[in-house]
Amino acid sequence: MAKLLKKSKVYCVIGGPGAGKGTTGKKLASECGLTHFSTGELLRKEIQGETETGQKVKAAVDRGELVPTPTVIQLLKENMIKEAATSKGFIIDGYPRDVAQCTLFEKEIAPIIKVIHLKATDDTMKARSLERAATEGRSDDTEEVIAARIATHNMNLKPITEYCTKKKKLVEIDAEAEPEEVFSQCKIAIEKKK
Ligand code: AP5
Repeated sequence: MAKLLKKSKVYCVIGGPGAGKGTTGKKLASECGLTHFSTGELLRKEIQGETETGQKVKAAVDRGELVPTPTVIQLLKENMIKEAATSKGFIIDGYPRDVAQCTLFEKEIAPIIKVIHLKATDDTMKARSLERAATEGRSDDTEEVIAARIATHNMNLKPITEYCTKKKKLVEIDAEAEPEEVFSQCKIAIEKKK
């Protein structure tokens, strides 16, 4: 485990494309005094910067597939270490996508206190992603790649949620609700001791 980080409070937000991970994660960070990281954003920054990591992960991101876990862990670790001295805790959106990501994070970085799952239907995920595509122009927000990202999410969801339930970490939130309600339910989950 990274020495600087092992006592950090870590909360994770998972869910499919457009479920609201970024929207909710950012707000939780500012309202709860946590440091926010999005694994998708960290990867996009590497791609835009044309770094060695960016060049390696671009093809997988463009296809809507998962990037290899060691690459994502390395990016998280580097960025979390930079904030460790001043951070009161972390909210990480888009991680863990599968059981191996969860166990590796806890081995190499820190224990995860809660994994909040934002539950939305495939239709909602698709509609929100397409709507965002019209304004933000993310390269993986094409109809084809959105469908691939939804399929990747659905394929991995059951094992990770079952694992987190077994470990008493999972909190399920209805992400079909208005953003303010989703945020408020997540905040309650974070503030609840158990
Ligand atoms: P990532 O960036 O995480 O993409 P994603 O999982 O497809 O999720 P999105 O960012 O599209 O959605 P979001 O849930 O954050 O929704 P948002 O709040 O933006 O990952 C991109 C790629 O990177 C992956 O495909 C993979 O290749 C790679 N990757 C990332 N993490 C990885 C990992 N751990 N391991 C391996 N590879 C990884 O909201 C979307 C829109 O909906 C916005 O317009 C928003 O305003 C709106 N909205 C949000 N909530 C609501 C609401 N409650 N009601 C109405 N509208 C809402």
